Amino acid sequence: MRVLGIETSCDETAAAVVTGERRVLADVVRSQLEDHAPYGGIVPEIAARAHIEALDGIIAEAMDRAGIGFDALDAVAATGGPGLIGGVIVGVMTGKAIAAARGIPFVAVNHLEGHALTPRLTDDAGFPYLLLLVSGGHCQLLIIEGVARYRRLGTTIDDAVGEAFDKTAKMLGLGYPGGPVVEDRAAHGDGARFTLPRPMKGRPGCDFSFSGLKTAVRHAIEALPAGGPGPEDIADLCAAFQHAASDALCDRTRNAMEIFRDRHAEPPTLVVAGGVAANLYLRQALQVLATDQGFDFIAPPQQLCTDNGAMIAWAGVERLRLGLTDGLDFAPRPRWPLDPDAPKAAFAGVKA
Ligand code: KG4
Ligand code: ZN
Repeated sequence: MRVLGIETSCDETAAAVVTGERRVLADVVRSQLEDHAPYGGIVPEIAARAHIEALDGIIAEAMDRAGIGFDALDAVAATGGPGLIGGVIVGVMTGKAIAAARGIPFVAVNHLEGHALTPRLTDDAGFPYLLLLVSGGHCQLLIIEGVARYRRLGTTIDDAVGEAFDKTAKMLGLGYPGGPVVEDRAAHGDGARFTLPRPMKGRPGCDFSFSGLKTAVRHAIEALPAGGPGPEDIADLCAAFQHAASDALCDRTRNAMEIFRDRHAEPPTLVVAGGVAANLYLRQALQVLATDQGFDFIAPPQQLCTDNGAMIAWAGVERLRLGLTDGLDFAPRPRWPLDPDAPKAAFAGVKA
């Protein structure tokens, strides 16, 4: 089985070919960073236009590197949401066109499902597992019971953790995206110099909050002597932020581990996925937590944590196997919760 995967929901134009035997034949990602850099953040219209311009070439390159023709594909999968709607439409239309022209099935993949199923591609993870999904737009704890069977245990009541990394970087003048550069500066910093809060720590449940942490970073910057933060201040603040964010994530994950153990008899596994899962400090902290709690721990290779086409192609493989394909009338979904039955986050709408 060979599936082409297309990802266009945010600021990466990506295409990949993945087989049913978990082989990634090609995985091509084009970042739009330079297109958005002058604006200090992602501009949806620019993203959509850049996807239109790049996607055909990215798909051609992926097919070329995979060394196969379109006639060797069993299906086409494209991110159907959630995300920036202009970009999602570009990917979905292109995927449908290829499927229609070749007479093969089209699979609409939930972007979060792509992240959620990645450990099955990379590590052959068996169901069920506990997933900490941490990206620029989402921060959730879920039990992945099977394909299309996702139980959300908690979510953020305000910012996603990736967003908090990005806003911290912006306040420190470090550009976008913030995660990699904050991690880099933090490596040279003293995390003990600034005391930052661990939002929600010690509270029951699995919900997250990061806006208070972001505000605390702003106050710490404002309290510095005139002239703004110097390189040492920046490194120390990045280290303190990364430490606090990881601590908060681990605290909520520990509560989720208890729930997982109550519900499932299988040997427990913790998985981290999404862009922030590329952070080595967080991976290390989660590894320690997992070992301490008797959980196996899986963190996919870093390039498969941030957005990519392979995760969409793989989710396509999993869905195709179960006959979960979509019609050409599939409508892109800007919002698309993984667990439609999830209760609203505690204190939802209240900024911490
Ligand atoms: O999954 P992703 O590529 O896109 C979304 O679906 O949102 O995640 C992007 C997010 C950004 O907020 C980025 O700053 C963060 O992942 N990120 C990181 C690192 N690499 C990317 N955060 C912390 N440390 C990193 N090394
Ligand atoms: Zn993502």
